[in-house]
Amino acid sequence: MSIIQDWPEPIVRVQSLSESNLRAIPNRYVKPLSQRPNINSHNKHNPHTTTTIPIIDLGGLYTDDITLQAKTLDEISKACRESGFFQVVNHGMSTQLMDQAKATWKEFFHLPMELKNMHANSPKTYEGYGSRLGVEKGAILDWSDYYFLHYQPSSLKDYTKWPSLPLHCRDIIEDYCKEMVKLCESLMKILSRNLGLEEDMLQNAFGGKEESGGCLRVNYYPKCPQPELALGLSPHSDPGGLTILLPDEQVAALQVRGSDDAWITVELAPHAFIVNIGDQIQKMLSNSIYKSVEHRVIVNPANERLSLAFFYNPKGDVPIEPLKELETVDSPALYLSTTFDRYRQFIRTQGPRSKCQIEELKSPR
Ligand code: OGA
Ligand code: NI
Repeated sequence: MSIIQDWPEPIVRVQSLSESNLRAIPNRYVKPLSQRPNINSHNKHNPHTTTTIPIIDLGGLYTDDITLQAKTLDEISKACRESGFFQVVNHGMSTQLMDQAKATWKEFFHLPMELKNMHANSPKTYEGYGSRLGVEKGAILDWSDYYFLHYQPSSLKDYTKWPSLPLHCRDIIEDYCKEMVKLCESLMKILSRNLGLEEDMLQNAFGGKEESGGCLRVNYYPKCPQPELALGLSPHSDPGGLTILLPDEQVAALQVRGSDDAWITVELAPHAFIVNIGDQIQKMLSNSIYKSVEHRVIVNPANERLSLAFFYNPKGDVPIEPLKELETVDSPALYLSTTFDRYRQFIRTQGPRSKCQIEELKSPR
């Protein structure tokens, strides 16, 4: 595996461009016509685009009411099979911690550029402050900056790669990620049970609790003077296992690809998390029982936006392949085996590219 050492072009912070009050965005952020968001026309004539993703109350799992428990499991099962995306409320994290996490990251992105640049990242590990995904020279870029860090496994956790300011931010990130791991571990059990598997099967296939990966990508989308030409994040499906997103409730910008291929703008419930299935789970639960669905982010001329994406991933070097328990004569394994470390190299070199990577892994028939 070739490891890329550096960016192909000098890095430009999108935030700096945004703050310089340009009227026109530079060409390298202008998407080709076919990829531009239809900012003004969405929702107008197409009733499908107004549907949002299901909202699931996780409180139902922790009552004595068996009927309610079963109904909640069922809702999760349906959401994983159909939309691949759902929102959860009563998820166990305090609204205070959610607000603190957003506030500390907002503060980070508003620190002076010299301080942020002390954490500048490279494509070698992507950890730190970054402004592009992919290393292709001359690529059309997305209108966002981000911060990426590892929380687990402990062998990858390195506080020196986390921001040192604002004060207490490391404590808040620590508390936030710890809760995220708890939520992911319980979702992994639910997903396993919902497929008729032993509760720990999915987690074991990920390489066990201690070795599974947990990383945080904080996306910062500055205001954009020409939102009809650009994207905050190009269409992609998440390469990992599960994603838990804490979005900005004030600015609707996440769009999910609906079954009719139209882009649906996600409307948010207050203090909800958005959960979505990543490619590794789609791949393991062969036959695509659970869907890793394509999504993208649009930008806004009047408001900046911040989101926290927590990725829960398999251990980097375990082969991930369709679970034998789910294969039948009628539905043989659909995908070839790969490790997550290898799989992740694709998005890290090519950048976000719809769903073409998982399609390439389809086993020859
Ligand atoms: C991601 C992602 C969506 C958002 O980070 O993979 O899809 O709303 N983010 O920022
Ligand atoms: Ni994503």
